Amino acid sequence: MKKLLHSVAAVGFLASTAYAVAQTEPAAHGAGDQGIHLAGEGETQHYPLLKPTEEKWSFAGPFGTYDRGQLQRGFKVYREICSSCHSLNLVTFRTLEGLGYSEGQVKTIAAEYDIPGVGDEEGRKGLPSDHFPAPAAQDPPVPDLSLMAKARGVTRGFPTFVFDIFTQYAEGGPDYIHSLLTGYGKTPPEGIDVAEGTHYNPYFMNAAALAMTPPLTPDTVITYDDDTPASVDQNARDVAAFLMWAAEPHLEARKRMGFGVMVFLLLFAGLVYLTKRKIWAATPH
Ligand code: HEC
Repeated sequence: MKKLLHSVAAVGFLASTAYAVAQTEPAAHGAGDQGIHLAGEGETQHYPLLKPTEEKWSFAGPFGTYDRGQLQRGFKVYREICSSCHSLNLVTFRTLEGLGYSEGQVKTIAAEYDIPGVGDEEGRKGLPSDHFPAPAAQDPPVPDLSLMAKARGVTRGFPTFVFDIFTQYAEGGPDYIHSLLTGYGKTPPEGIDVAEGTHYNPYFMNAAALAMTPPLTPDTVITYDDDTPASVDQNARDVAAFLMWAAEPHLEARKRMGFGVMVFLLLFAGLVYLTKRKIWAATPH
């Protein structure tokens, strides 16, 4: 038992030391003011230039739940800005009940959309069973946002990913989307070329610039129906939460089930141990 305690203490000590080391980021070279590390001569430039900032999300951690008000605000941002370019092909209107809307409200929302007819069929008003209709095809092509919050996650590197197992960090997608949407408008560091038709954004995963024009700007801030103060940052935060919900509508049920399973396994392990003691009690050793 004493030995076991010693090992636990040792592992704890090592883990906290490694964590402290991980927290002290190496000094950045190059575009120092933005904390960007630029590749030297003959080195390959790695992207993103900046890692997403870690935000606080109501749905983080083992007991996380969505904030219905935030999801509805994020949906408003999606509808009023993102939906002119981005589809949400995998989401049906009826699932919007997950945002806290009643059946009647979902019907009303669905009916605000026109569903184009297939072939000779006439177009009609949307029904709760319909999927979100896609905007017209774009050039350059625009990715679908249904699973975007799960499709993007910046590599966190050792040892951060080890701690992520214990903190259950799984918010890489919304962190990325929030940072990307608020990451425009900086001057590219020297040595970084921004191709024509693209916009510099140090948080973009694949390059220094992307084809999306900054969708959230101080002049086009979406105001809310609740009394949450609206800003570019708040819009970005809410739409990122909404996209997390779109990608994982059953997150809460999954977390509840996971917790139940852990409790069951602990009780079961206890029972197995007691059974073992009972069976071997009479055997001398
Ligand atoms: C004017 C059209 C337009 C609007 C409006 C728009 N986007 Fe985009 N978006 C694009 C294009 C084009 C790309 C592809 C960029 C590329 O790969 O270079 C893109 C890419 C993205 C990506 C993927 C980036 C990656 O890592 O590949 C995300 C996330 C995204 N948009 C989110 C949003 C959100 C959220 C909104 C609403 C707040 C929004 N977009 C509004 C055109 C738009």
